Amino acid sequence: MEKVELQPDIYWVGAVDWAIRNFHGYITPRGSTYNSYLIMDEDVTVLDGVKLDHADTQIMRINRYVEFDRIKNIVVNHIEPDHSGSLGHLVKLAPQATLYMTEKGRKGLSRFYDTSAWNIKLVKTGDTLSTGKRTLLFVETPMLHWPDSMMSFAKEDGILFSQDGFGQHIASAQRFDDEFAERASWAELEDAVWDYYANILMPFGSIIKRKIGEIRKLGLDIRMIAPVHGIIWRKDPGWVVKAYLDMAGGKADERAVVIYDTMWHGTRKMAHSIVEGVREEGLDVKVLDLKATPVSEAVKEFWRARGVLIGSPTLNNTMMPKVGEFLTYLKGLRPKNRILGAFGAYGWAGGAVKEILEMGRNMGLETVEPGFQVNYRASAEDEAEGFEFGRGFARRLREYHRNFS
Ligand code: FEO
Repeated sequence: MEKVELQPDIYWVGAVDWAIRNFHGYITPRGSTYNSYLIMDEDVTVLDGVKLDHADTQIMRINRYVEFDRIKNIVVNHIEPDHSGSLGHLVKLAPQATLYMTEKGRKGLSRFYDTSAWNIKLVKTGDTLSTGKRTLLFVETPMLHWPDSMMSFAKEDGILFSQDGFGQHIASAQRFDDEFAERASWAELEDAVWDYYANILMPFGSIIKRKIGEIRKLGLDIRMIAPVHGIIWRKDPGWVVKAYLDMAGGKADERAVVIYDTMWHGTRKMAHSIVEGVREEGLDVKVLDLKATPVSEAVKEFWRARGVLIGSPTLNNTMMPKVGEFLTYLKGLRPKNRILGAFGAYGWAGGAVKEILEMGRNMGLETVEPGFQVNYRASAEDEAEGFEFGRGFARRLREYHRNFS
């Protein structure tokens, strides 16, 4: 079994989930990992559990270094079941251990599991735990991304155990950013960071900015960031912190994404002429058919681009269900700093385009109105109009993007 050392006597004891493709509806084509860490100090300390069906792997990895009767502390940075699923097993093997968590963590865990026999100690920001030669400092991070969430900082080693924050859903043979960049691809890692932020953290941009500011004020010398999913940032943890601040501040590429569903290909045909218009203005554009694209992937592409054009034919006076699913998911993520346009074919009465624009307005997005509608199938004249619609949208996008440069 591989030995992964972050710093002398601090080990990764997590599990790689090569198979997972659907993470409670969030599609994860790269798989994921559930990272857990072991500090081999005078008081042996485990940080975080793993998903229940990977508990055996975590236990085996821990046993590679230590017997369970030597474990003194278990730190629970986050209680979501992908990180708390194995805790019951750990407590059974190490009943002497004390579990450290926030008050919200205790309350939440008692709803998931029978914790009546667990030795729980509550912590809050500024509390510390000495493990012997080392000190762990706790920092509460409520709503990043659950109410219970906290991070733990190993002072002497400069490691921030950041639970979900700065994570990515990537299963790989590499554990560290520099290894992944060398043997896989930095672009893939960057894309996974955007994907994770878009799907998990998009609603919490202002909390992220505030919390990073608070952590900076604490003057912590962060030399490594060890999240509970994916790659550990040891070469350049500052890169991912900056990426988070940029995303929270409204960063996006000056380009468009077209996201649509279609019935008899009328709306798809419209998308093509609109795309030509966008490209004519010199903007890059991606096109996603929601029948072939998971909503979580579409949300990531939405998040990476400054502008989105959403297409739907009208079905029973409203938008197609897949477009409704995308917009409902997006609404929950409380997007900001993006510009939205809408288009679609209709038969006897429209409705979809109006509704898409209304949803965009209600989400607080900048909308380009009116949308573009075509009866049944675009004629040559309609295609010319679609081309101009695309050009007009691209110009508005450029103008809007200037607010962020
Ligand atoms: Fe990876 Fe919020 O759990």
